[in-house]
Amino acid sequence: MTKPVLILNGPNLNMLGVREPAIYGSTTLADIEATCRERAATHGLDISFRQSNIEGEIVGWIHEAIDGAAGIIINPAAYTHTSVAILDALKMANCPIIELHISNVHQRESFRHHSYVSLAATAVMAGFGVAGYPLAVDAMAGLIAARAEA
Ligand code: DQA
Repeated sequence: MTKPVLILNGPNLNMLGVREPAIYGSTTLADIEATCRERAATHGLDISFRQSNIEGEIVGWIHEAIDGAAGIIINPAAYTHTSVAILDALKMANCPIIELHISNVHQRESFRHHSYVSLAATAVMAGFGVAGYPLAVDAMAGLIAARAEA
């Protein structure tokens, strides 16, 4: 059975559509999930799309992915800048990891310029708006295919 790509979303991303629309846009997380599902299907990939406001729940999902995922796309949201626990969990995963941000975090407050997660990420994407999600699915398909050929 093919393993799914886990798409993990951190705190406050359940509020997309309502949350600071000037930064994050008006698309909801449910819309983003539907777009990712469609895009993944074009690559023959399954996705498991999740969101949590709780750090430990995200850590648990990453543990599941150690043997159970073909890749991880993670928008850790505010935990990007604070969570050694998420970094340590990601370090156990053998699959490709894409760190994704809707906004260009480097153009924002200085506390958003540092990411713990980047230390474990295969690649980092930021600033494409919500269009970054399907782009990340495309990029993940490429990373998975490259591993299969290696
Ligand atoms: C974010 C950027 C983070 O700094 C912020 O805390 C978020 C969302 C983004 O997608 O742009 O919640 O990860």
